[in-house]
Amino acid sequence: MRVALAYSGGLDTTVSIKWLQEKYGAEVITVTVDVGQPEDFEEVERRAYTAGAVKHYLIDGKARFAEEFVSKAIKANALYEGEYPVSTALARYLIAEEVAKVAKAEGCDAVAHGCTGKGNDQLRFDATFAVLVPEMRVIAPVREWGMSRDEEVEYARSKGLRLDLKKSRFSIDENLWGRSLEAGELEDPWNEPPWDALKFVRPPSEWRDGEDLVVEFEGGVPVAVDGERMRLDAMVQHLNFRAGRHGVGLIDHIEDRVVGLKSREVYEAPAATVLIRAHRDLEKLVLSRRALAFKRQVEEEWAWLVYAGLWYDPLREALDAFVEETQKAVAGEVRLRLEKGALLVRGRRSPYSAYAEDLITYSAASRFDQRAGEAFSRIWSLESQIVNRARGRFRSGR
Ligand code: ARG
Repeated sequence: MRVALAYSGGLDTTVSIKWLQEKYGAEVITVTVDVGQPEDFEEVERRAYTAGAVKHYLIDGKARFAEEFVSKAIKANALYEGEYPVSTALARYLIAEEVAKVAKAEGCDAVAHGCTGKGNDQLRFDATFAVLVPEMRVIAPVREWGMSRDEEVEYARSKGLRLDLKKSRFSIDENLWGRSLEAGELEDPWNEPPWDALKFVRPPSEWRDGEDLVVEFEGGVPVAVDGERMRLDAMVQHLNFRAGRHGVGLIDHIEDRVVGLKSREVYEAPAATVLIRAHRDLEKLVLSRRALAFKRQVEEEWAWLVYAGLWYDPLREALDAFVEETQKAVAGEVRLRLEKGALLVRGRRSPYSAYAEDLITYSAASRFDQRAGEAFSRIWSLESQIVNRARGRFRSGR
């Protein structure tokens, strides 16, 4: 058997290489996808071969991740349960797709991933594999082997595998769009996230004077910061540091996993926080009230599909088509302030602004025909008048 394994270089997937060989007599091809995690990829490759991989692939997915996944998430203001920018979730589909490609090219019989049976990530990998390589078997060693972390280390040692892994107090998953932390002391939802575990979001003692920031959008996608045009992946990296320095972008969330468990999640996502806030604000300036209200429902459904492993449901593409249609007018600039842990929107402008100053103005020069308000207002409450009269309510005591 030949297996393509989604390989992060961590303990689970490294032990998986050996385990797949032993259990299934498999030839293991490891596939590592760079989606912006801070990793020494040479070291990852060395580790894969040391553990027995027959071939290793490193795929740079950063630009594609930004252009095909993050940009859609921004247009859809994607926040699961109103808070989590679905960063881990989004990257899983890209990683799984790259693994499937390698598996096909290498004539594999199976694909594998390192997800547990308790989380959401298994749904994203399994679904992508089932759709893209339905003929291949999917193996998830961690779901099968039932070893604790200590037992895994012991297993590795007994097989002569030397793992010089720097072990963290937390389970951390990082990509361009966000950094997710779980486990360790965070498992008690009462414990606050320790500052020393954070990478982008700095503690109050390091906050400096606030600063302004202008984000420019075209077609719903951010294209420039402070007048400087940049590629989306570069912009996200820039904003993660810049907003994080002011303490912006920490998300401490009690999250409902698909399997029915509540989970305490801590995310660092300064760029996502800034860009979605700015994007939503600009939409308020250019979209109609009804389009906005409907889009909010679409956004919630979009985030849910991405979160729940359902990227390949045709509904997601249909929602993307709706979102795309709304984004034509989402162009302009949003001025924000980063200040002592806060993110404030301070101004916005757009060539497609639906803000009619000539009508809304308080000055006498307004073109608004206020006399028309009288008839409009009377008819606006007509149903309230009729229904209350029909029920005999509020009748005057004559
Ligand atoms: N709860 C998030 C999700 O399901 C993140 C999960 C990954 N986090 C981690 N520390 N491994 O998308």
